[in-house]
Amino acid sequence: MSHHHDTTDVPTENTFALYLKTNSRATHDSVDNLVMSVQPFANNNNYIKFLQLQSVFHKIVDDIYKDPKLNQQIPNLAELARYETVLQDLQDLGAQAKTWQTALPKPTGAEALGWLYCAEGSNLGAAFLYKDAQNHLNMSAEHGARHLAPHADGRGKHWREFVAHLNNLNVSEEDKEDALKGALNAFAFYKVLLREIFEVPQAA
Ligand code: HEM
Repeated sequence: MSHHHDTTDVPTENTFALYLKTNSRATHDSVDNLVMSVQPFANNNNYIKFLQLQSVFHKIVDDIYKDPKLNQQIPNLAELARYETVLQDLQDLGAQAKTWQTALPKPTGAEALGWLYCAEGSNLGAAFLYKDAQNHLNMSAEHGARHLAPHADGRGKHWREFVAHLNNLNVSEEDKEDALKGALNAFAFYKVLLREIFEVPQAA
């Protein structure tokens, strides 16, 4: 499956969020392709692996969503955390969360912002995943695909609001670079997790 990005609404100004998007797009698309290559919606077994992958990823970013200082700058950020919701999805399917043997990344500072961008943006693209989970596996916002459901405001509107908050943080040029490093690390670690959980050989 291939998904084409809609480029019609790309703002012309050089914002923080646009900087992250532009410089992580190629990496994002490689993650998109890797996810689809393991056929997460082919059967419940694969879908459970996908949920386990999501559970480890969202466990890493859970502390960032709940960071008190960030919650002062981005209202209700803590409510956007999806780790508990992924665990509920696993529970719906009678499956266990993946226990990760080695230490997980603990991003801080501006790098954590990049991880947050990566995690929150993933819910924008999740529209496709949510449809596949509904159509192929009968999952729903009440069963098994809770964490893929759209925000109550709608995915697009919610994302535009989140982006506005990111852009209002007044991040310094140096911190922007660290945030991008964080976003790229987040995408890269997602691939590491995926290959481990789906038993795909790690790329050379
Ligand atoms: C098969 C898997 C995936 C597909 C098909 C997919 C698809 C998409 C699509 C189509 C968009 C653009 C949506 C729009 O502009 O309306 C998007 C955005 C995004 N996705 Fe994914 N995605 C996938 C996996 C992921 C994963 C695993 C992550 C993070 C770990 C992720 C992070 C993001 C981010 C951060 C954005 C926002 C880009 C921006 O506008 O700044 N995606 N995705």
